[in-house]
Amino acid sequence: MSDAKKPVLEVRNLSVTLPKGADREFAVDKVNFTVNPGEIVCLVGESGSGKSVIAFTVMGLLAKALKPSSGEILLQGENILAASEDRLRELRCTRMSMIFQEPMTALNPVMTCGDQIDEVLRSTSSRAASASAS
Ligand SMILES: Nc1ncnc2c1ncn2[C@@H]1O[C@H](COP(=O)(O)OP(=O)(O)OP(=O)(O)O)[C@@H](O)[C@H]1O
Ligand SMILES: [Mg+2]
Repeated sequence: MSDAKKPVLEVRNLSVTLPKGADREFAVDKVNFTVNPGEIVCLVGESGSGKSVIAFTVMGLLAKALKPSSGEILLQGENILAASEDRLRELRCTRMSMIFQEPMTALNPVMTCGDQIDEVLRSTSSRAASASAS
């Protein structure tokens, strides 16, 4: 399969354990979904159902009290759950990013959303260009 057709993100049987004493064992329990190139995937669920926990797990930014206990997360085929901190930092600069939940604090209200997303892509591609020139 060509890279253009391979999934961008695959979440397979992902479970994340809550700390002892929580109201249930898992924040997310055997979650599966795939994001293909060009696709927009929305996770929908009631408050507390684990949408943010999934996003934080994908980004490698999960709170220490929560633990991915099974499954895998493949970003363009690379298992995020097995990646080192350095590799995760590199991936967060180049392949994945997150707009955090409170848009009034995560986004700049005097810029359009499009301009803010574009800024990330422009700074990433100029960083990649200067890295390949050196
Ligand atoms: N740092 C944490 N410590 C303990 N429990 C946590 C922590 N973060 C999340 N949880 C628990 O994990 C579960 C999933 O929370 P999460 O924030 O992912 O929900 P959500 O679907 O994003 O909700 P919302 O729609 O309100 O944003 C909840 O039971 C929450 O209390
Ligand atoms: Mg949330």
